[in-house]
Amino acid sequence: MSKRIRIDKLLAHMGLGTRSEIKKAVKLGKVAVNGAVVKDSGLIVDPELAVVAFDGDPVVYRDVVYFMLNKPQGVISATEDGRERTVIDLLEQQDRLREPFPVGRLDKDTVGLLLLTNDGQLAHELLSPRKHVAKTYEALVQGEVGDADKQQFASGVTLDDGYVTMPAELRILGSEQQEEDLLSRISLTIMEGKFHQVKRMFEAVGKKVVYLKRVSMGPLMLDESLPEGSYRELTDDEVELLRTHRRASE
Ligand code: URA
Repeated sequence: MSKRIRIDKLLAHMGLGTRSEIKKAVKLGKVAVNGAVVKDSGLIVDPELAVVAFDGDPVVYRDVVYFMLNKPQGVISATEDGRERTVIDLLEQQDRLREPFPVGRLDKDTVGLLLLTNDGQLAHELLSPRKHVAKTYEALVQGEVGDADKQQFASGVTLDDGYVTMPAELRILGSEQQEEDLLSRISLTIMEGKFHQVKRMFEAVGKKVVYLKRVSMGPLMLDESLPEGSYRELTDDEVELLRTHRRASE
């Protein structure tokens, strides 16, 4: 199927700059299509067929896609599974065809922000332990979470396997009574992503997480207007934020 898009959009899509940077590059004569310098950044091209060069270098088109999913409980963060429903099963057929995969994992019972993409490079960088991408979670925790926990999380806690966590920021948002239980509502920002990390950090201080939701990952915030189980494409601004974040952490 042939699709046609503006050359500035195509180049921004491939990560060569923001739309306004691309417009400037076009004005400077840095963009060529099929061997001819482009004069109009609104030029329509077929990305599958056009031979595009930016600053003299060929631009190889890839159909990258970025989806924000508000993950519901009960589905696993994998592309396929013989028994369980996966986050990919929540996508429409036409979106599944673009072969996105989840960037990292949320537990089956965790809800909230999950990025799905087919951009392996970006996914790799967001997940790299060296990049320390901040992830913020909101949780309900059994019992009273207090200042002692805040301090422990700020200095690092020892998990069940002996791993000492990096400093993490715990904020206490309030408390609520659920039947017999007092639950603390908290937010926790961690800079790493060990297996079941948030639940295990609370276990390390003798407490149990009963509800967990991710609300941000790096510069990307969960769109609270997305009902659980729904998803949408990232906006151009959100993609740009992710790419800027990547450049800043290089
Ligand atoms: N920490 C957890 O314990 N579970 C998640 O799903 C994410 C972070």
